[in-house]
Amino acid sequence: MVQYFQQMIDGIWSIPINLPFTRFNRSLKASKEVQKMLKQLISEKRYEFENNLASSRQDLITCLLSIRGENNQELMSENEIIHNVMLIMVAGHDTSSILITFMIRLLANNQNIHAAVLKEQEEIAKSKSSGESLTWEDLGKMKYTWRVAMETLRMFPPVFGGFRQTVKDIEYGGYLIPKGWKIFWVTAKTHMDSNIFQEPEKFDPARFEDTSSLPPYNFVPFGGGARICPGYELAKIETLVTIHYLVTHFTWKLCCTDDSFSRDPTLVPTQGLPIQITPRKSL
Ligand code: HEM
Repeated sequence: MVQYFQQMIDGIWSIPINLPFTRFNRSLKASKEVQKMLKQLISEKRYEFENNLASSRQDLITCLLSIRGENNQELMSENEIIHNVMLIMVAGHDTSSILITFMIRLLANNQNIHAAVLKEQEEIAKSKSSGESLTWEDLGKMKYTWRVAMETLRMFPPVFGGFRQTVKDIEYGGYLIPKGWKIFWVTAKTHMDSNIFQEPEKFDPARFEDTSSLPPYNFVPFGGGARICPGYELAKIETLVTIHYLVTHFTWKLCCTDDSFSRDPTLVPTQGLPIQITPRKSL
């Protein structure tokens, strides 16, 4: 599925003309394959659910299948379940991994910030016995590390914008945008506006020490309003846990000094992110 999934993602941001051999065409074909696989998985999960064989009711498909009406009939059609699962896969996969990728790069380039993250994470690691897992309370203590993540999201937002529709006529920058028009809001532009963030080109996690002074909708890596990203907390957990184990167990150096990146549609370091990684205990 990973291969089809990647092909599908590659064509999401392409010219929607369905000609053979185009990225769009390959993406549609790959999407059909992913849907076929999910269909198969759903029928297996349905069988397990209906025969009480499900080992865990916590997986997404089983949860969606268990939404039932009065006569135990499924309330979501198979198609709705397929597309909800695909939405979560698309929205949740590359986003968190991009944040972690860019944090790895920024920590390698900013030794003082790396040292402060390491100090915070080592204190947490020291409070644990060998093999003991991180807890929710531990994540709450990772305040500096999360500020570094926020600053990474400010400078390198994985999702660079999204669509909204105007519900009334609005005026912006001397332009009238009529009711009903589509607007594309651009995260990267807002985050790099020097009226909001001073010296926006500077990587400075300290700017998030006091977020109460930040006006609403000025820091929008997860969007905003009713459709704000529902995966925010999960992304935070994934990032903090990964960085915890990474900095406490390894050091790393970048093998490539090129800092450039492209958006296709999500952020990708132009040369990938080759690193030389060393276990800390062997240092
Ligand atoms: C660093 C990680 C992430 C970033 C930066 C991010 C960013 C975003 C943004 C900007 C939106 C659009 C919000 C809007 O229109 O106001 C969004 C929507 C969404 N995200 Fe995330 N996301 C992340 C991780 C995740 C994860 C881990 C999941 C789930 C596993 C997830 C699930 C979703 C879903 C389902 C939507 C669509 C919500 C809707 O349309 O109502 N995201 N995300």
